[in-house]
Amino acid sequence: MFEALKAQPADKILALMQTFREDPRSDKIDLGVGVYKNALGVTPVMRAIKAAEHKLWEEQTSKSYVGLAGDPAYSDAMIELILADTVARGNVAAAATPGGTGAVRQAFELIKIANPSARVFVSDPTWPNHISILNYVGIETVTYRYFDRETCGVDFDGLVEDLKTAVKGDVVLLHGCCHNPTGANLNAVQWQEIIDLLNARGLIPMIDIAYQGFGDGLEEDAVGVRMVASGTPECLIAASCSKNFGIYRERTGLLMMVSNDAASQKLNQGTLAFLNRQNYSFPPDHGARLVTMILNDEALRADWAAELEAVRLGMLGLRQGLADELQRLSGSDRFAFLAQHRGMFSLLGTTPELVEKLRAEHGIYMVGDSRMNIAGLNADTVPILAQAIMDAGI
Ligand code: LMR
Repeated sequence: MFEALKAQPADKILALMQTFREDPRSDKIDLGVGVYKNALGVTPVMRAIKAAEHKLWEEQTSKSYVGLAGDPAYSDAMIELILADTVARGNVAAAATPGGTGAVRQAFELIKIANPSARVFVSDPTWPNHISILNYVGIETVTYRYFDRETCGVDFDGLVEDLKTAVKGDVVLLHGCCHNPTGANLNAVQWQEIIDLLNARGLIPMIDIAYQGFGDGLEEDAVGVRMVASGTPECLIAASCSKNFGIYRERTGLLMMVSNDAASQKLNQGTLAFLNRQNYSFPPDHGARLVTMILNDEALRADWAAELEAVRLGMLGLRQGLADELQRLSGSDRFAFLAQHRGMFSLLGTTPELVEKLRAEHGIYMVGDSRMNIAGLNADTVPILAQAIMDAGI
């Protein structure tokens, strides 16, 4: 049987991580995988996570199973963090998943059983794994224009025009904030226009929110997802705690089904539990428990939010520093978008050949579509990157 297997395409982001590890150059710079790093290049365990882990170690008396959808207290805490009071709790079904990717995968499986003929519209570009999983699950993918390569902002007219080709029952996948890979985001007026379009055409929104707190702040980054959850009859939300709690390897995510028909909540909740049971039974608990402890403890929550805010401001400072340095070297404002983008990523908007040149000649690693992880920079490497961008003729 095994001889029938064919080599699977490597995930570009993860393959790049490996090439970086194997590069012997000591001055190499990793702007690849979306993992936060501080100025020393370290991905720290957040203070509140350490404190919660300590407390958990002292207090936890059992590692027995929790529940197919995870601990309801985790769902409650996350729903409050993401949706605040914009939707009644009784209108939301939710299940813990292994990371944000797990939530995305379960959402696609749910679409497949609820409406096998639904197509999923994804932004061009989007996180490559969205498309990979959609193909794997067997759902037709359609792209909608998103990134304007001239302005490095959102091509909103193109987006609207393309979404108008979707038909009733199709799903539209949107990034809640900090768009991955572009860094270009929707404003509240644009969110409302999309909501009106979704409602007029009977389209189902699915929001992937993996970077809440990395863009304009914890509350600000949730504006779009809250508007969609309260402004459409049904939506799916896939959330990740990997980045904003820094618990990447703990695999902590949540899938929510929001419906304006509270009577459907029981059925929806049962469907999420069923999907978990089919795929892995019980979702991981450790990360979810830490998140719950932090969100439900005033002091831990305040400390976590403060550390996250410092991370956010640090990345904004790096963005501004890079934009300023490129302005100085190029004598033009063509890189000003770097300071306007939000989140961990920016798409530089250059060719794969020039991305490769940066890697080969300068040891600077970014994803082939020219996505840079801004958190991979520090005050010392900002001028090095700016000079390399100039030298490469970008
Ligand atoms: C990324 O986009 O780099 C992250 O979401 C990590 C991943 O799994 O690809």
